[in-house]
Amino acid sequence: MRVNGDTGFEDMKKDLSNILKKPLYVGNRQINTRLFLAPMAGVGHIAFRELVSTYGGYGLLFSEMCSAKALPHENRNTSPVFRWRDEELANLVCQIFGPDPQTMTRAAKRVEKEGFFGIDINFGCSVSAICRKGCGAALLKDPNLAVSIVSAVRKAVSIPVFVKFRTGWQDDPGPAVEIAKRFEDAGADALCFHPRVAPDRRSRPPRWEYIGMVKQAVCVPVFGNGNVFDSEDCLKMIKTTGCDGVSIGRIAIASPWVFKVWSEGFAPGPDIYKACAMNMAGLLEKYYDPDRAFKLFKKFAIYFAANFVFGHSIYKKLCKADDMSGIKENIYKIFEKTPEVASRPNMNMFVS
Ligand SMILES: Cc1cc2nc3c(=O)[nH]c(=O)nc-3n(C[C@H](O)[C@H](O)[C@H](O)COP(=O)(O)O)c2cc1C
Repeated sequence: MRVNGDTGFEDMKKDLSNILKKPLYVGNRQINTRLFLAPMAGVGHIAFRELVSTYGGYGLLFSEMCSAKALPHENRNTSPVFRWRDEELANLVCQIFGPDPQTMTRAAKRVEKEGFFGIDINFGCSVSAICRKGCGAALLKDPNLAVSIVSAVRKAVSIPVFVKFRTGWQDDPGPAVEIAKRFEDAGADALCFHPRVAPDRRSRPPRWEYIGMVKQAVCVPVFGNGNVFDSEDCLKMIKTTGCDGVSIGRIAIASPWVFKVWSEGFAPGPDIYKACAMNMAGLLEKYYDPDRAFKLFKKFAIYFAANFVFGHSIYKKLCKADDMSGIKENIYKIFEKTPEVASRPNMNMFVS
């Protein structure tokens, strides 16, 4: 394991920070840090994003996926997912899923009107409830329809259009490379690529070499995604694939300060865990009713607990409560003394 103070490790961290802090254009807009929060349903909500923003160090935050069908009628004060703080709009991309160009353009227009940095089209989700409706990764089975969605959204808005997609339905990079070119021709400003097949979710490792193939095939920026869990992974993904930046999911839930660590060299102290968990609890209570706050804390806690050597037991202890006040009492007790931190997050807790 590499440790702080080891010269090679310090050089590697500086190298990574220099790369991540190199500005980049996506469409007509500049991004100052090439490290993004990946879209995550149930965890990338307004409260979590406020928590991440207290640390900073990211370029863009992606929202949870929002139904394009529902989005035009959503009330931002009551919607569980289509919800934001005005202060975050300049760095916030709204992800939408839907089955056809008309539904997606209606949603995209509202996203633009509300002032988001950009829009992200979800062709990555392989959850059966989404695919059954002909949305998410299901659209990769019908490339013409997927491309027509990108093209229609492109014509409907002038904000940057991102496309999030995965390898497809078979372990072959050919179709992904082909469709990447077609997304670019249809007007996508950037691609976020997750090199896994559907319906294989997060259990098997992603094939990073496919990210390199997609990058080679297009001129627009390509952001790599999948199993980046520490600074060395992040640098390795960039260097081995040539991708323009990295989108991180689960490690960001576990350590919402990770953006600042990798892009700005922030060195967190042991108190960060207790402060972070308390802050998350408070922010969930600020934005959601008590029942929902409680459910959402438990979703967060599974990834957060993966930081610790005895993650499963910490998770159980954290969530052994009937409501949020029980959760807060647990946080105080568990983090009176910081539990032993694992050198890498507990992968068994990261598979979902
Ligand atoms: C709890 C959870 C919810 C997710 N929801 C979405 C989603 O709404 N839209 C999407 O495109 N991907 C979603 N993903 C996939 C992530 O964006 C990302 O591609 C995946 O976690 C791999 O990145 P990682 O290895 O950095 O976690 C989700 C992942 C997790 C763990």
